[in-house]
Amino acid sequence: MSALPGSIEGALTTGLDDSPVLPAPADLPPLTEQTRLEAREIIARYPVPRSALLPMLHLVQSYQGYVSPEGVALCAEELGLTKAEVGAVATFYTMYKRRPTGRHIVSVCTNTLCSVLGGQRIMDALSADLGVHHDETTADGSITLEHAECLAACDYAPVVTVDYEFYDQQDVESARALVEALRRGEKPHPTRGAPLTDFRGVSRQLAGFSQHADEAAVAGAVDAPGNYEPTLRGLRLAEERGEHAPPMTGPTAEPADAGEPRETVRPAGRTGETPGKEAADARVAAADTPAEKAGAAEAHPDAPEPAGRSLADQDDGTDTPAGSEPGTSGQGPQREA
Ligand code: FES
Repeated sequence: MSALPGSIEGALTTGLDDSPVLPAPADLPPLTEQTRLEAREIIARYPVPRSALLPMLHLVQSYQGYVSPEGVALCAEELGLTKAEVGAVATFYTMYKRRPTGRHIVSVCTNTLCSVLGGQRIMDALSADLGVHHDETTADGSITLEHAECLAACDYAPVVTVDYEFYDQQDVESARALVEALRRGEKPHPTRGAPLTDFRGVSRQLAGFSQHADEAAVAGAVDAPGNYEPTLRGLRLAEERGEHAPPMTGPTAEPADAGEPRETVRPAGRTGETPGKEAADARVAAADTPAEKAGAAEAHPDAPEPAGRSLADQDDGTDTPAGSEPGTSGQGPQREA
């Protein structure tokens, strides 16, 4: 029989979860009155109580390391939802764990760019070293390993995150060294961002509470300076070549008839309306540099379609870029390995 965490009702209603129900670990700390008070504090932040569900699920994870049956029940009770409704949310997002996690969650990006640069090799090596596969935890409880979809750090590929902190431009050996250090109880500093804590600590942060004991600890946990050169590389090249983005166009001051309905001018592209030819002609004529002129000409409504552009690239009447629909990126639905 399959079910949401502890909820047969949820599985039958949503059909979203086919993972086996595992009994709660004997050493699982119980949710307490303090948990319930903090859940209510989260609820009070929102005009509609059910909007608090996502941080409440992180709160449950901060106490128990996963979305436990007890946690599902607590969220349902406090929000006046059914356990099936809570379970439907908990099983949609990959950051909500359905099985007890280790002290750290190591996520290896195996999406396209990271994969071709070695992400899959890193995943395979860690899996072999640790003796676990995707979404499994080592016997000593130190590491939960998972593969991840694009972590939005392609310019630093291949990337690994630990408890959602970035370790950029990894290879098999550096990733192995990182994981060995974690298993020894060390916390190597991420390549950028805040210092590493652990999964429960970062879950508390995601619930909107401080994970730090005092002000000094908070001060020490601010983002450290990082190496952002890969992100800035395009800018540097443009500077070297004397290239500039075309100037922004459009109204800069409130017209005299402010408040009156007027025609909206939108940029050309997949999602906008095509501007009038007169405005496009003016932009081409006003361009100062060849690069600006080329950019303005390319955006002109009379410009030919670029070679190789397919029908799928054309305006399809939606503002949703391809690939950003729910379920196609890192925060999409749970997938089993
Ligand atoms: S493909 Fe790995 S971060 Fe984008």
